[in-house]
This record gives sequence, C-alpha cells and structure tokens, in this order.
Amino acid sequence: MATLARRILDVKPSATLAVDAKAKAMQAEGQDVVGFGAGEPDFNTPQHIVSAGVAAMTTGDTRYGAKRGAELKKAICEKLERDNGLAYAPGQVVVSNGAKQSIYNIIQVLVDEGDEVIIPMPYWVSYLEMVRLAGGKPVILQTSEATGFKITPEQLEKAITPKTKLFMHNSPSNPTGAVYSPDEVKAVAAVVEKHGVTTISDEIYEHLIYGDMSHQSMAACAPKLHKDLVITVNGCSKTYAMTGWRIGYAAGPKDIMDAVSKFQSHATSDPAAFSQAGAAEALTNLRMSDEAVMHMREEFDARRLHMVKRLNALNGVTCLEPKGAFYCFPNVSGTFGRTIAGKKIGSAMEFTALCLEDAKVALVPGEAFGSGQHVRLSYASSMEKIDKGLDRIEKLLK
Ligand SMILES: Cc1ncc(COP(=O)(O)O)c(C=O)c1O
Repeated sequence: MATLARRILDVKPSATLAVDAKAKAMQAEGQDVVGFGAGEPDFNTPQHIVSAGVAAMTTGDTRYGAKRGAELKKAICEKLERDNGLAYAPGQVVVSNGAKQSIYNIIQVLVDEGDEVIIPMPYWVSYLEMVRLAGGKPVILQTSEATGFKITPEQLEKAITPKTKLFMHNSPSNPTGAVYSPDEVKAVAAVVEKHGVTTISDEIYEHLIYGDMSHQSMAACAPKLHKDLVITVNGCSKTYAMTGWRIGYAAGPKDIMDAVSKFQSHATSDPAAFSQAGAAEALTNLRMSDEAVMHMREEFDARRLHMVKRLNALNGVTCLEPKGAFYCFPNVSGTFGRTIAGKKIGSAMEFTALCLEDAKVALVPGEAFGSGQHVRLSYASSMEKIDKGLDRIEKLLK
C-alpha cells in the first residue's frame, strides 16, 4: 500500500462536516436526530438563480470558459464597489469553487514552510489546516466572551514577528457570530497597515448581519490596504443559499491574484459554467436577489434571538448574542464536572457526544474552532426544529 505524503498525515478532517455526516447517518438508520451542525442556509436557492443555471445548461453553456464568466467578474467588481467601496478591475478577481478554494489558493501562493499566519481564535475550522497544508505555522490569538470574541489591535501588534506572512480576518465570524464594528475594523486595519501584513478578509457572511451592526471591509480602511495588502474573499454560498453551486471569489493586489489564477489553472480550472451563470444572475438581478436575501435575513434574525434566549435558560450554559452569520456559540463549561445520564462531562467534545447519544441532537464541539468550552449550533434550521432540539437538551441538563 502506498504511504501517504507527510503533508496530509497531520491534517484533521473537517469536524463540522464530520458531525453533519454522523447526524445524517443516524437519520438514515431511522433515528430522529435534530441536526444543528450544518454550516449552510436551510433555504432553497432563489428560483431566478436556479432558472439561470438551468438555462445555461440547456443552451449549451457546458464547456470550459463559462459564457457568463466575464459578466460574472464584472458583476463582482460592481458588487465590491457598491457594497464595499472597493474599486477593482476584473483582472484582479479570481472566481473559485467556493470561498473555501479562494482561501486555500491564497494561502498556497503566499505561505512558505515556517511562515507564521496569525489566526484569531475561535476560528473557522479550515483556516488552521489550510495553513498547515502549506507548511505554515498558525499563531493563535485567544479571545473570549469578555472581548465579544474579537481581538484587540494590541493583541495583533504583539503577535507580529519578522516571520509573519499573513493575518486572517473574519467578520462576521464563523463560529461565534461576532461582528467587528467599522471602528474596530479600522483599529485592527491600522496595525495591518503599520506593519505591512498581508491579510485575508473573509467576508462570506457580510449580508447576514443583524440589529444595528454594519459591515466594514478591511480593504476599504486605507488606500494602502486596498492597493497592496488586503485580499477580500466573498462568495454566493451563504448570501444566496448557493452552497452546492460552489462559487466563491477573491479580489486583491494584481500580483497575488495572478499567482492565484495560475495556481488554480493547474488545480481545478474555473468553476462549473452553469454555476457561474447562476452567480452572475444572483449578482446582477438585484431586485430579485435583494428581496430573497432580505427574507432569509429576517428569518435568521428571529431564529437567532429565539435560540440565544433558550440557550441562556439552560442549566450550565451561557451564550453571548451573536450579531452575524447563523451560529450561536454557547459556553457549556458550567456543565463540566457534572455527571449526566451516567456520563461525566469535562469538555465540549464530551458535551456534544452526550447530546448526540442521549438527546439525539447534533452540535459541533468547540475544539474544532480552538475552544474546549464552547459548542456551535447553527440556526439555519426551522423554529420547530430549534425548539425540538433545545427541548431535548433542556431535559437532559435538568
Ligand atoms: C468563515 C467561512 N469562510 C469560508 C467558507 C467557505 O464557503 P464556501 O461554501 O463558499 O466554500 C465558510 C463556509 O462554511 C465559512 O464559514
């Protein structure tokens, strides 16, 4: 049997996908599992987008080089100008198979063996493994409820060394739902600019922000950031409920984006032609897309408030109100030391195992995001399911 390459041996599988797969396997066996693991909207892709994808296929847009590829890049440039105040030429944009590939590409073209990459914790599961796959060294910045799960500019400044190659910024955040205010982004951006640190700004949840919070793109904080330092990553997956279409994109300094384009040309080429047609429709038919996004956001908002209220009523659980994305990230350390259903709880992992086995509720352990005290629940799930799952956990913890 072939020996596996060293680079893959230390990589952990995606915990979020693993939890989802386990819950689905239990469901397939006939077990009534309530899944809060999924990282995707539970809505269908809006019909006008689906129709555009179907039309692309039926009219022969099934080859290399999507017919609407150029239109999509132009639409992305217009979106970045309109929503984010960022002017880019289409040649500075690379469209990839999901924002996941956009981030992977950028890390691959920038990070050399031993380079340090600064990542605030809790972090999206894949950042760490992508950095490791490139031979880089993740440098983790701790945050907690006390700072709203956000780093301070001082923390970032202290972590920067001559080996720092990249900084990962993600707002709104998966898994915490934290949103940096425009002033907070500007304060962090000032440190990025002062030290000339190349930064990936992952803005995939940009349109899922609630209450009076607003989104600020890191690249728009200063001309130097826009021109030389920040690569903005976004995509269609979360905003338009298009996770399976696999369309993400990145825009940034031309030399970096040229390298990304070259890298991707040898890995996967462009995303599916009909997916690009769907994305072009999503980004150009603003009247219909905005209406669909508004509807989804309103639904998520109501579920968010309901879920956080119910979580805070649970014995041993506290939860900061998330301001964006579609996740709650409660602290379950108040249950540690207790024996529940014959099992002693000492970590988030053990808490989630208990919930899955004894309450048939699937949660993602915080360890996947760097915290042994928290668990992640997605509220991309109906109110009915949210209540059903939380009723079960409430009963278990009583
Ligand atoms: C923070 C963050 N960035 C990027 C992605 C990747 O999204 P995509 O489905 O477009 O690859 C996700 C998906 O879960 C995410 O949560």
